[in-house]
Amino acid sequence: MNSPFSAFTLKNQLPHSNIPRRRCYSTEKIEINLINRKGERLVLQAAPDDTILDAVIDSGMDIESFGVCEGTLGCSTCHVILDQPIFEIMEKICPPTAEEFDMLDMACGLTETSRLGCQLEVSKDINGCTIRIPQEVSDARNL
Ligand code: FES
Repeated sequence: MNSPFSAFTLKNQLPHSNIPRRRCYSTEKIEINLINRKGERLVLQAAPDDTILDAVIDSGMDIESFGVCEGTLGCSTCHVILDQPIFEIMEKICPPTAEEFDMLDMACGLTETSRLGCQLEVSKDINGCTIRIPQEVSDARNL
């Protein structure tokens, strides 16, 4: 049986780091509508089990100051806002940790359905959803 996953591969480095990322890449893609800080609607192709941050980096999308701590729960710049049904699905797939709540407290424009993109794993259940990146951004490392 063919697996939808390719071999574990060292892929490109994070844009702000010399640390290579080691991840499992899938040939299967999930589409996410992403509204960037300028209000533009973009289509993000993501592999299952990637985080939203992984998918943004892999896509090469240039979103100002998004994910500057590289997913280490140190900045809150990956703050995203979900629609309520998607928020509820994500709560089941990857419930927020106390560390994520702490970092969300420092995000600009926090809402009831806010999460951190570096903590959200992509799944088939969110195919076609819309995720909004707030216009304003704050980097908790500078607070
Ligand atoms: Fe910094 Fe998510 S990338 S908290």
